[in-house]
Amino acid sequence: MTPHPLIAGNWKMNGLHASLAEVAKLGALYQPSLQAKIELLICPPATLLAGAHEITAAAKIALGGQNCHFLETGPHTGDISAWMLKDAGASYVIVGHSERRQSYQETDALVHAKALAALEAGIRPIICVGETAEQRQAGMALSVVEEQIKASIPAQASSKIVVAYEPVWAIGTGVTPTHAEIAEVHAHAREMLKRLLGPTFGDQIRLLYGGSVSPANAKEILKLANVDGALVGGASLKAQDFIAIAEAYL
Ligand code: PGA
Repeated sequence: MTPHPLIAGNWKMNGLHASLAEVAKLGALYQPSLQAKIELLICPPATLLAGAHEITAAAKIALGGQNCHFLETGPHTGDISAWMLKDAGASYVIVGHSERRQSYQETDALVHAKALAALEAGIRPIICVGETAEQRQAGMALSVVEEQIKASIPAQASSKIVVAYEPVWAIGTGVTPTHAEIAEVHAHAREMLKRLLGPTFGDQIRLLYGGSVSPANAKEILKLANVDGALVGGASLKAQDFIAIAEAYL
């Protein structure tokens, strides 16, 4: 059975203790009619995971980290392992977000190792891929995404893996690709996943679109073939906007 669509919120480096009130608001807005249709996930900063978990567990909202180390424990000052995220209540972790690929030179091989660690720890990796503006202009969008999928996704077939297509130029810019462009990349990614992981898992893996998703554009984007949800940055910070995106499925 194909799992429910996933609406995931990436808070990035935003949120203090007071922001837990927003999580509580989200819990109140995530009504059973919506729970029956979609899975809702928030990925707050690591400092808020434990506090958020007290609210999300009761509200049936999933919780995730934004990054993890590829090892379980050890002398890695400042790092957090997938096992620690799980211990704090997370059931997902974002790996290979373009902001990390760009700011910390995270390679496909490293993203692959992090995704594997997540699976070993028993949480679901959301593996991010996506081309830059220059790569799209050069006609390389499909080949870049193809390479990233091949090199970042653990070959071990698992429907626990989630893939997010996030064109770098659409993140935080208010600009989104055309529907045809999103559909083209998602169709190609689906084919790749089927080839790599076999038809069953290739079909079950949820393929999210991310990059300037908003209440205004969500309905049309989420209708597209092979789009099984969204990874939302800015619009996930306000419970009302985030829920409005999820309600595109009602
Ligand atoms: P955005 O971010 O929705 O603010 O564009 C998306 C993301 O980076 O995951």
